[in-house]
Amino acid sequence: MGTKLVLGLWSLLCVVSLASSKAIVSCKDKTTCRNLRIITSNSNEIPSGLAQHRQSAESIDLHGNLMERFFGQDVGTASQLKALNLSYNLLKDDLQAIGNQVQEIDLTYNQLRYVMVPRGVRIFLAMRNKLSRVTFAGTIVEELNLSKNQLDRIPDISRQSKMVTLDLSCNEISEVNFDYLPRSLSYLNLANNRIFQTSGDRILSSLQYLDLSSNILTIVDKSFNSVPNVKELYLQNNEIVMITTEKTFSSLKSIDLRENDWDCNSLKVFIERNNVRKLPDNPSCKYGSLGTNGLCCIQSSAPYADRVIRYNKRQHEALQNSSMHQQRGPNCANYKPSPCDGDDNKVYEVANAAANDVQSLVAQDKEALQGILNQQRYLLENKQNEKARIENENNQLQTTLNDLTGYIGKLYQDDGFKVPAKPDEQLKQIFTKRDADNKATLEQVIEEERKLQNLQEDIAKIEEELQDLDYRKERLLGDINARNATVVEHEKKIKELQEKIDKRG
Ligand SMILES: *[C@@H]1O[C@H](CO)[C@@H](O)[C@H](O)[C@H]1NC(C)=O
Ligand SMILES: *[C@@H]1O[C@H](CO)[C@@H](O)[C@H](O)[C@H]1NC(C)=O
Ligand SMILES: *[C@@H]1O[C@H](CO)[C@@H](O)[C@H](O)[C@H]1NC(C)=O
Ligand SMILES: *[C@@H]1O[C@H](CO)[C@@H](O)[C@H](O)[C@H]1NC(C)=O
Repeated sequence: MGTKLVLGLWSLLCVVSLASSKAIVSCKDKTTCRNLRIITSNSNEIPSGLAQHRQSAESIDLHGNLMERFFGQDVGTASQLKALNLSYNLLKDDLQAIGNQVQEIDLTYNQLRYVMVPRGVRIFLAMRNKLSRVTFAGTIVEELNLSKNQLDRIPDISRQSKMVTLDLSCNEISEVNFDYLPRSLSYLNLANNRIFQTSGDRILSSLQYLDLSSNILTIVDKSFNSVPNVKELYLQNNEIVMITTEKTFSSLKSIDLRENDWDCNSLKVFIERNNVRKLPDNPSCKYGSLGTNGLCCIQSSAPYADRVIRYNKRQHEALQNSSMHQQRGPNCANYKPSPCDGDDNKVYEVANAAANDVQSLVAQDKEALQGILNQQRYLLENKQNEKARIENENNQLQTTLNDLTGYIGKLYQDDGFKVPAKPDEQLKQIFTKRDADNKATLEQVIEEERKLQNLQEDIAKIEEELQDLDYRKERLLGDINARNATVVEHEKKIKELQEKIDKRG
């Protein structure tokens, strides 16, 4: 355990120093950056990391940094800041300069001895510190958890008129006066203190949960009339002998009376009056024997006198036992951890976990950088490919150019040029010459076309004449036919005449 811890711490220091002297700031909610996680060993380094998020930050998580000091002016005054988590550090001094906009502060697992709850705070958590004094700058605290501290009295919460939840378990408180508790209180945990006396008569009508277990109460007296509506009442592991209040607790849902020093009669009366049905099992009796209700109790005519004698005997025995302990050392087999024992290494464990956070944050950054690098590589590769392609194209173009230059050179020579010239000059000359040639050719073509047109006109004329000739021929033929007909007619007549002549003759 020890070496592991030391190694862990060593790696933490390494990582933190590796991460340069600047605080590591990351946004838990990537884009909006309202919830910041800051890893640093010194709150003086925070401003540099926080600067860009000052306007947006609504919660700042500084847990597990092993910070010994906290200067609030740079963090605690961020304009939108509502929640500040300073748990698992090594803070010794009271907080400085927390702005009134901060509503929730978690100081669990630090080394604080005194703290003043800042004015705007509604939820204040400072479990497992060394607090012996707590004061309030304001009056609006709703939830206060000071479990596992060194308070020897209930802090002055008489002005906290909005307080609903109060946890003062595992302290060194010896008395409760209900008159100084706010009426708004609904949950009150005073378990594991040294309470031997309750007093007061203020009616806390909202109180539903009251835990007074593991104290040294000997009596439940009429001060309990202050909690008429209690639903859950925990009184186990005290030295209670009697209940003297005649009050009926009509809202009771759950009650624990085990591990006390009950007088059987008193217990019976209370259980019957309050109609208590279900009680937790009581496996073995510290005092007395198992009674009708399943609770241990002692039948006695003088309950207190008996017990005074017994307590004296026990003290004597305890003295003897402790001198035995000194001789033989503690009996480890019988050691039962108290619920108030804090794991003192916890703060280092959490800091180690935070160091892993650093590593994972760094790893994340590295991963992101690697991603960018890969992208760059990919781009570079693309560019290289493109370059190769362009070079290839260039080579091809060069070849084509060479071919072309050769070709032009040849044309140049063919066209009868002799004076050496650059290819483009050559080309120009060739084109000029070709243009001239083309012009001549064009003129020739036009001439030919003109001739052709004349020819066509001649042909047309001839065709016309031919048509005319045809026409005349047709007419001539008609005439001939007509004359032939006439001739034929004449011949016929001549023939007739001849025949007639012949007959006369
Ligand atoms: C503060 O941080 C600790 C460690 O991460 C966490 O367990 C705790 O719930 C946080 N406190 C609040 C009020 O969120
Ligand atoms: C107060 O803190 C203790 C220790 O962390 C925890 O067990 C308890 O539940 C808290 N009380 C309330 C009311 O949340
Ligand atoms: C003292 O020691 C005895 C035996 O070891 C044990 O039974 C007894 O409960 C102890 N008394 C006290 C008050 O611790
Ligand atoms: C004229 O007419 C006759 C009878 O119709 C015919 O036999 C003859 O060939 C014709 N002569 C000519 C020149 O057309």
